[in-house]
Amino acid sequence: METKARILTGHRPTGARHIGHLMGTLESWAKLQETHECFFLVADLHVLTTNYQPEHLQDNIRNMLADWLAAGIDPQRSAIVLQSAIPEHAQLALLFGMLTTVARLERVPTYKDQTRELNLQPSTGLLTYPILQTADILIYKASVVPVGEDQLPHIELAREVARRFNQTFGLVFPEPEALLSKSPRLPGVDNRTMHTSYGNAILLKDTPEETTRKVMGMYTDPTRLRATDPGHVEGNPVFALLDIFHADQADLDEIKSRYRAGKIGDVAVKQLLAKSLNDYLAPLRERRAVYYNQPSQLMEILYSGTARAKSIARATLKEVYEKMGLLYDRGLDEKIRAA
Ligand code: TRP
Repeated sequence: METKARILTGHRPTGARHIGHLMGTLESWAKLQETHECFFLVADLHVLTTNYQPEHLQDNIRNMLADWLAAGIDPQRSAIVLQSAIPEHAQLALLFGMLTTVARLERVPTYKDQTRELNLQPSTGLLTYPILQTADILIYKASVVPVGEDQLPHIELAREVARRFNQTFGLVFPEPEALLSKSPRLPGVDNRTMHTSYGNAILLKDTPEETTRKVMGMYTDPTRLRATDPGHVEGNPVFALLDIFHADQADLDEIKSRYRAGKIGDVAVKQLLAKSLNDYLAPLRERRAVYYNQPSQLMEILYSGTARAKSIARATLKEVYEKMGLLYDRGLDEKIRAA
């Protein structure tokens, strides 16, 4: 039997997913299930590097899982894994910390940006974020990691750590490769990048009415004062979203030329976008509501994926312990208890 290359990727469970997640990552994850053995990680420990809101964490996980499944992540084929439930991730991260200098971690661009933005003293948890991510990937010996461009420095670190480990202790890990998502980041309703924390996102779980309201309030062409002024299509987030969600390309070309000629108003174009979005999202929204309203089924899916992952994680950690000269013995716990 031909074995499929293994993928690990994941998200921090910061809440419901938006249409940028759908087009940028979830649809491509769903496709990759056909060609790869996939592990999709709910990176709940990573959430704690920037904010702790214990009262929201479990609902955020539930929202994210419902969206993942609705977008086509198939728990029959792929394992959905809860990071905090597999202590081997944290244990391997601790060991990888022994192979990584502080200076190397301080050079990671996401760390530099975040410490500047957060304007506070960074925790060691934030500094070692990419080491935990490295452990997430290497504990499953994944060879392919689908991510957005912002994550490339983390994958680069994972490759370095794999190489250093293999050179120092003997061959255990593949050097994982990033698989860059093709679709560019979507603009949000205010024309900044769509981002949950910016409040400019259209969520998969939004009702059609909410979606329409958000779209009608969108930023468009600021140079256009009257519907008869010639409009700009480029750099206009309404058209950026229409390009993706409007099914009829010929129709869209026609609308663009009318917009450029000042023959169609912003309201009409936004109404068209709202309809395109709602049409596109309708079946997905139906599925996500069903999943969200069955939390015990969601948890069962999460537990069974985590169980599948756990045995692989344990086997890798055993190998690492032995290579590093640590004592790994399944009977060790009992011996310690009996001592
Ligand atoms: N850091 C990733 C993000 O913010 C989430 C993540 C955690 C991840 N562990 C991972 C992605 C391992 C890929 C592989 O999007």
